[in-house]
Amino acid sequence: MRNESIIIYESIYNGNTKKIAQAMAQVLGCRSINSTNAMNIDLNQYKSIGFGSGIYFGCHHPLIFKVAEKLDMSEQDVFLFSSRGNPRLGKYHEQLKKLLVEKGKKLLGEFSVKGYDGTGPWSIIGGGNCGKPNERDLKKAAKFLQDHMPQYCVPDCYKQIKTRLSVKEGKVNTYTVSLGETQVVLKGDLLTFNQNDCIGCGKCVDICPLGIIDMKEGKAFSLKELDCTICQLCEKNCKERAINLHFNWRDAIKVAIRHGKRKSL
Ligand SMILES: Cc1cc2nc3c(=O)[nH]c(=O)nc-3n(C[C@H](O)[C@H](O)[C@H](O)COP(=O)(O)O)c2cc1C
Repeated sequence: MRNESIIIYESIYNGNTKKIAQAMAQVLGCRSINSTNAMNIDLNQYKSIGFGSGIYFGCHHPLIFKVAEKLDMSEQDVFLFSSRGNPRLGKYHEQLKKLLVEKGKKLLGEFSVKGYDGTGPWSIIGGGNCGKPNERDLKKAAKFLQDHMPQYCVPDCYKQIKTRLSVKEGKVNTYTVSLGETQVVLKGDLLTFNQNDCIGCGKCVDICPLGIIDMKEGKAFSLKELDCTICQLCEKNCKERAINLHFNWRDAIKVAIRHGKRKSL
């Protein structure tokens, strides 16, 4: 877990904003906590802070403001996010933005998505923005961070490999790449395990529906990455962000062909 960023959220209605906060925390490799917990920690130790909540009566949740008010005037990067019922964001972020700017913070960007809303007139039609935020919205949240604050995102070391080896059944390719001063060891191509970040918790081993992930000397890897169905459960559930999938559309089609003849798990 990297400790340079933190995400603070309130999500009192339907957990819509919590979903965004958690997806963002994955990309930044940081913690996401609610504002009550945030009141008890020293936020000045973080280089970047994300503030987000549902929009309730035209602005962020009052507890988010309380946390922001507690900040000192030190230099820090901040970003704002929200989920809302209204199709348009309008001026919903303005009050919080003003407060943070007054505190001398640098605003890196703001992000908002539509979230399920069953209040007021929406109740007549069984709710608006049903199913939102959805997977696509979570991807948009990730892209927002990569576009606006790439320096804080967990780097994908696999992209640095110059000569990639062919993937073979029963064999795992191992690469070493430099990340600043650190030498990072990666195992696998389609399913890449960062051996430096893996803490050997075994969650990926347990969660993989095809049981293709193994553990050796407390580190995860796969000898059967060609069997991967790209369900992404391992990647999404790795709290250390030690797993990255690297597939293109050709690989995705190969998966369909490879598994097409399967009759059961
Ligand atoms: C009490 C209340 C007030 C709301 N006020 C607004 C509003 O002023 N504008 C808007 O776009 N959505 C409004 N909404 C809808 C929420 O912003 C939306 O459902 C949001 O996704 C909730 O996030 P949460 O599930 O993280 O709490 C309101 C919802 C509630 C429950």
